[in-house]
Amino acid sequence: MPTEAQVDPSAVLAALGVDDVTRITEVTGGQDTLIWRVERGAASHALRVFRPEQREAANREAIAIERASALLPVPQILARGIVDDRPAMLLEWCRGVPLFHYLTQHPSAVGVLGRAFGRMHAQLHTLDAPPALAPPNALGDWLAQLDAPLAERIGAVSRQPPKLLHLDYHPMNVLTDGSRITAVLDWVNALPGDPRADFARTTSILRIAPISPAPLSSQMRHLRRALERAWRQGYQEAAGEMSDLPLFYAAAGTAMQGDLAPRAANPDQWLQSHHLTPVRRWTRCWRSCAGL
Ligand SMILES: Nc1ncnc2c1ncn2[C@@H]1O[C@H](COP(=O)(O)OP(=O)(O)O)[C@@H](O)[C@H]1O
Ligand SMILES: [Mg+2]
Repeated sequence: MPTEAQVDPSAVLAALGVDDVTRITEVTGGQDTLIWRVERGAASHALRVFRPEQREAANREAIAIERASALLPVPQILARGIVDDRPAMLLEWCRGVPLFHYLTQHPSAVGVLGRAFGRMHAQLHTLDAPPALAPPNALGDWLAQLDAPLAERIGAVSRQPPKLLHLDYHPMNVLTDGSRITAVLDWVNALPGDPRADFARTTSILRIAPISPAPLSSQMRHLRRALERAWRQGYQEAAGEMSDLPLFYAAAGTAMQGDLAPRAANPDQWLQSHHLTPVRRWTRCWRSCAGL
């Protein structure tokens, strides 16, 4: 991940043809990209700068946002380009605060907002993936590199045509104003596929993703569980019951282990191998349930 010091946001904005900027503030909290909030008079924008190797991911993000904008609140893309080898994107700054932050301040809203969060996820899954996003089996091919037999089992039950999947749909990537979901952000992982893969991915994030070096407080554990319950209820009210979930949970757990293992091996990161114990346990459990 590049550091802010290596990228000058004013130079990136100038290269994108944006020169009437009144203020630039660094945004913390992002995992994958550099983000600044940019003021231009009364308008606010988000400047997102990717790593050089994220060209394809940045293209996919733009294609996914464009498609999702048909049904969901997403930031409008105002300008895009490659600056010093890095993809850069200027987006509308959306109203609201991350759902996770709102709920830690207002835990009693978890039922209503969690269900809205789930309904919106189900709504996304009604959209066919645009063919330009990625080949229809991109997700299956990626999974096959981690576990070929599991990818084959998933391929055999996957429904067609592939839908638009976000694959990082969690409460830091969704904004709320306290009464509704105001934006769905961060489409860098978007791919075509079976909605159950995205449903299982969010389940795994809400249930087992390590989010802090220390064990969570009991209030936080309770909030996380309540959010998962409400999201699931909202999703299933809109999308109906789903079959073969153990297979998709096994895949989500396997993918999360694959994602996090290199970070846990990096001494500069807080994540350590023992933080992955719940991920390993959960994955083992669903693999055995799916007969793997
Ligand atoms: N367009 C936007 N409108 C409002 N807030 C944004 C916008 N883009 C990013 N943010 C803020 O920055 C945070 C990280 O952005 P995100 O797109 O999720 O980046 P990352 O890929 O680094 O996770 C979000 O949780 C949100 O608080
Ligand atoms: Mg994010």
